[in-house]
Amino acid sequence: MLTKIKETAAFIRTKIKTEPETGIILGSGLGGLGNKIENATAISYKDIPNFPVSTVEGHSGKLIFGTLGGKNVVAMQGRFHYYEGYGMKDVTFPVRVMKLLGVKNLIVSNAAGGLNPAFQTGALMIITDHINFFPENPLRGKNLDDFGPRFPDMSKPYCAEFIEKAEKIAKDNNIAIEKGVYIGSTGPTLETKSEYKLFRLFGADATGMSTVPEVIVAHHQGMKVFGMSVITNGSAPIDPLGETTHEEVQNVAGSVEPKMTKIITELIKQM
Ligand code: HPA
Repeated sequence: MLTKIKETAAFIRTKIKTEPETGIILGSGLGGLGNKIENATAISYKDIPNFPVSTVEGHSGKLIFGTLGGKNVVAMQGRFHYYEGYGMKDVTFPVRVMKLLGVKNLIVSNAAGGLNPAFQTGALMIITDHINFFPENPLRGKNLDDFGPRFPDMSKPYCAEFIEKAEKIAKDNNIAIEKGVYIGSTGPTLETKSEYKLFRLFGADATGMSTVPEVIVAHHQGMKVFGMSVITNGSAPIDPLGETTHEEVQNVAGSVEPKMTKIITELIKQM
């Protein structure tokens, strides 16, 4: 595994001019932020040795290097999901590679179903904590000692300073913001009504099929993490757990994306 991570990082280094300081993972319908990156160099996943290839509609599948908010960044336009059939090591492989490229901060985004009845469809939620409800942990197996410890602490995976800054940015820009706990499970099915209820009882505010694996790996290797969910569906009382389509998820995410991009860009400026 380590050899592959090193090989991929070495390949990417030959293609880029500057070392990225912040990594960004763009969720379903949220790829628009990638187009805001200046002086961009894009590399398709299919051209990167050892990279899995994204299969989901609406995930274009490339790494975009360049500047955002005046800082060097790398964005993943399209991520790898466990439900696509990839193992946890594949899902989190790009985050390992980012570490070797010099990335210190990771920003993750996703489209999520709302569980907290106070949330409206289209709300933006800062992730304050998560619940790993995947049947696996990406750190299972031999520990990569060069990256982090065998038993990483998980009491604060999301950086409190970034959360505070993002809240202030949202306020200054009149963007309504929620905060809450994200529960990640495999998908690809959306939840039954009873599963939504169960997840709410667990204490989660939003549910989705991603993010948790990447955050675990980023935290393991000492990155500072910031996460945001766009609540695309499932939120009582607007939609009392009605039916949801992937198209609807993407449309709602796309319509909220400019607000998320604003917050993330300003946050990067302040990092
Ligand atoms: N459940 C799981 N994942 C999701 C949802 C949902 O309701 N909406 C968007 N991604």
